[in-house]
Amino acid sequence: MLVPMRAILEAADQNGYAQAAFNMNSVSQIEAAVKIHEIMESPALLQGAEASNAYMSGNLDFMHGTLEDKAAGAKVIGAAVKQYGADSPVPVALHLDHGKTLEVVKACIAGGYTSVMIDGSSLPYEQNVELTREVVKYAHPYGVTVEGELGVLAGVEDHVFSAASTYTNPVQAVDFFKKTGCDALAISYGTQHGPNKGKDTKIRREIAIATKECMMHEGINGFLVSHGSSTVPQEYVQEINAMGGDLQNAYGIDVQQLVDVSRCGINKINVDTDIRMACTRNVMRLFAAHPELRDSKYIGQVYADLVAKPKNFDPRNYCGSVMQMIVRGSEPHPDLVLLNNCLRQGVQQACAPLLVQFGSCRKAKLVQPITLEQMADRYKKEEKGAI
Ligand code: G3H
Ligand code: 13P
Ligand code: ZN
Repeated sequence: MLVPMRAILEAADQNGYAQAAFNMNSVSQIEAAVKIHEIMESPALLQGAEASNAYMSGNLDFMHGTLEDKAAGAKVIGAAVKQYGADSPVPVALHLDHGKTLEVVKACIAGGYTSVMIDGSSLPYEQNVELTREVVKYAHPYGVTVEGELGVLAGVEDHVFSAASTYTNPVQAVDFFKKTGCDALAISYGTQHGPNKGKDTKIRREIAIATKECMMHEGINGFLVSHGSSTVPQEYVQEINAMGGDLQNAYGIDVQQLVDVSRCGINKINVDTDIRMACTRNVMRLFAAHPELRDSKYIGQVYADLVAKPKNFDPRNYCGSVMQMIVRGSEPHPDLVLLNNCLRQGVQQACAPLLVQFGSCRKAKLVQPITLEQMADRYKKEEKGAI
């Protein structure tokens, strides 16, 4: 069934594990993701970023999508998650990743998202609070969960802790939860987005621990989120490069560190890069094993676009010629099935080990099966209780 993200994170918090959250960029990936979570008996937390929503509207210039594009794409993603998730035996939540405005939040909720992130981390603190509070005011009456962000994720050096630190301040995090009423908070503690996180990156786990401790002392019933947490398996990097790719200095977060923080305060771990890499590795393998497909009327252009930019590992940048397959899941020729299976398997290969390691495997039953309407009622009652 579809549930608000809060239900999934409550189970993680109460049982001492983290739920991995995976970014989706095609109907086939959503289908495959739900399936692998079912096999693992794990709750499913799927996300679409603003650019993913624009892309899923069919706009190839998805990094510059309009609000209309994002609204249209949110409906496509929402419908696919409903198609595969509504009757699933595992609880499924659909979360907006890095929403930047209230308008995008509204479009995603209208499209069927059960959770939203509002990322005001680049704003001055008071403006971040204001924007996040506004989103909470809008989303909670729908029963929709809200994640905020505090602190800036960047290539900050290890062990930097000074007035200039962009890491999250645990005391300010507590203030942020209190002032905004948000459910979850992305913290900055040493991770960063993308494939170049630095070799031997060390997470400042004490920031997660201190923040969670402060929250417990203040009776804040919220959850901490680790962004930029791909593990960038070196086998993917080596294989992609051996097949003509050019990924330099690609290192992720050592998975043991993520396992560690998933047991001491972090309840949601975001992963996108690992999926992109697994899919691209699979697509490269396909064209290497079947050179005749390079001239396929259906997927030959995909190969041309893939080899044109060896540094690129985002399938969205070379799957433009098969947009109907991406946004409708339609596969009118066996060559398209072969390509789509690369995306399906990439999702499953990247996700399965992390569901085990972060601890959500076999935890589906622990999630309270609560609807958005029931969650909306809960928020209303809590608000009354607070007055
Ligand atoms: O945190 C960002 C995610 O990796 C989403 O990336 O905006 O390119 O879809 P995207
Ligand atoms: P990665 O780039 O490490 O996969 O981070 C994903 C993320 O934080 C999405 O919000
Ligand atoms: Zn992120």
